Amino acid sequence: MKNAEAIEKRRTFGIISHPDAGKTTLTEKLLLFGGAIQSAGAVKNSKISKTATSDFMEIEKQRGISVATSVMAFEYGGKQINILDTPGHKDFAEDTFRTLTAVDSVILVVDVANGVEEQTKKLMEVCRMRKTPVIIYVNKMDREGKYTFDLLDELEQHLEIKVTPLTWPIGMGDRFKGVYNLFDKNLNLFQANKTKISTDIVSLSDINDSKLDELVGEAPAQELREDIEVIEGVYDEFSREDYLSGDIAPVFFGSAVNNFGVKELLDTFCRISPSPRGRATDAGFIEPSEDKFSGFVFKIHANLDPKHRDRIAFLRIVSGKFERNTFYNHVRLGKKVKFPNPTSFMAQDKSVIEEAFPGDVIGLYDTGTFKIGDTLNEGADFMFKGIPNFSPEIFQELENLDPLKSKQLDKGIRQLMDEGLAQLFIQQPGNRKIVGTVGQLQFEVIAYRLLNEYGANCRFVPKGYAKAVWVTSENSEQLNSFMRSKSNSLAKDKDDNLVFLAETSFLLTMAEQDYPDITFHKTSAFKLEKQFN
Ligand code: G4P
Repeated sequence: MKNAEAIEKRRTFGIISHPDAGKTTLTEKLLLFGGAIQSAGAVKNSKISKTATSDFMEIEKQRGISVATSVMAFEYGGKQINILDTPGHKDFAEDTFRTLTAVDSVILVVDVANGVEEQTKKLMEVCRMRKTPVIIYVNKMDREGKYTFDLLDELEQHLEIKVTPLTWPIGMGDRFKGVYNLFDKNLNLFQANKTKISTDIVSLSDINDSKLDELVGEAPAQELREDIEVIEGVYDEFSREDYLSGDIAPVFFGSAVNNFGVKELLDTFCRISPSPRGRATDAGFIEPSEDKFSGFVFKIHANLDPKHRDRIAFLRIVSGKFERNTFYNHVRLGKKVKFPNPTSFMAQDKSVIEEAFPGDVIGLYDTGTFKIGDTLNEGADFMFKGIPNFSPEIFQELENLDPLKSKQLDKGIRQLMDEGLAQLFIQQPGNRKIVGTVGQLQFEVIAYRLLNEYGANCRFVPKGYAKAVWVTSENSEQLNSFMRSKSNSLAKDKDDNLVFLAETSFLLTMAEQDYPDITFHKTSAFKLEKQFN
């Protein structure tokens, strides 16, 4: 296949939501439509259970399943669709942030009753920063929820993005009759049915047609007409350009569990979503159409069998064509590497592939040569930018309980950090290891894996830090004075960048005021922030 053809065909995206909004259900329905799975339940089992579990066997089992569902590819409407799975569990948010660097667009699922929730806001922040095009799917219309116009206001305010509805619900909960497609001007009538795909689509180019009253009842029909008048006055007409630039998010309404509104979503997605996009490197922007192969690692999965340290590195292809058994440049190591068994994840079956194209995600077996963010390319020296680390929320010091195993502990913690399980900050004096995570669950996983895979016994001691910010300044006098006064709260990250571990947000604000020439960056990708803003 030619590169240009392959690029045009591919659509790589992620589905994100606050837990319970319906991400898994929607993913499953999309796979059912795409014929990638035959029955519901296949994806459901992959969920990390919502209650933070201390059952390690459960964590191990989930790790295995989540390799299988990391990428789900299928063909639909002439496109090859690659869905990248993002863990819903809050403690794995960092993993989701990284996956967002490997997608070209996002579908955001919102629960009609709960509206914008905490996790959604954070994920949207990452999308805004990267200008990722977003489609919003308002789910659970079969239940009572927020008044539709209020919900749209809430989306605009809390997600800080303009929205424009492409479908419009007629009632909700028990009174839910269906949706009117404002774009295609047809009516999709709702039937609660978990097994059947809704096909009751009635063309209705004139909203004043009396057919509408017959189909949904007089009062709902009248309400819809009034709503549409308001919509036309208030919301901008949909512009694909504004969607692609991340300035406006089209909104759909449906009920994923009832297969409702999913087909419109998928059809529109195929029509408007972007084909694979290029990425920024330290030597300029790389377009997917470039001849030479390039890609980056955004996720690493450890082997389930602790006796085998091999891992799977997930590589997103950015440009050119990847070929099996061909030597490529591992830029960070300055080494040539080739892969005899690269795998694809078509329809959930792992299979060895001969070639892969921009937008594709492939799995590479790795014995410890990859770190998250690594670049692989064909005869060039550039590195992709932008797998940023965000501030962790919980900080604990790692203490070695067995001095004879300190080497194992050092190696283990370094490898687990390469996988992106948490962030490590080194504090002086004494090379103290401060581990930062977004959830308590990670500490349990780290301690368990250090012991089981590396034989290193450790414990974690809570530290009173609340936020990590990366510090830069051109004013060396001010920086030195800051470093003297905050020596107890400073550390270095894995790349030797200076990090301020603030005990409270207030102390951070104070530091910002006291040291105006110092910049306190929210992510480790501060060299890139300028490009995004
Ligand atoms: P998540 O991945 O975002 O966490 O959400 P998930 O799909 O697991 O959905 C969360 C719950 O919401 C599930 O119920 C699911 O069945 C339900 N749900 C999803 N879509 C709809 C919808 O359109 N309408 C209604 N009423 N419910 C919906 P559960 O009780 O947690 O699980 P289950 O026992 O039903 O599988």
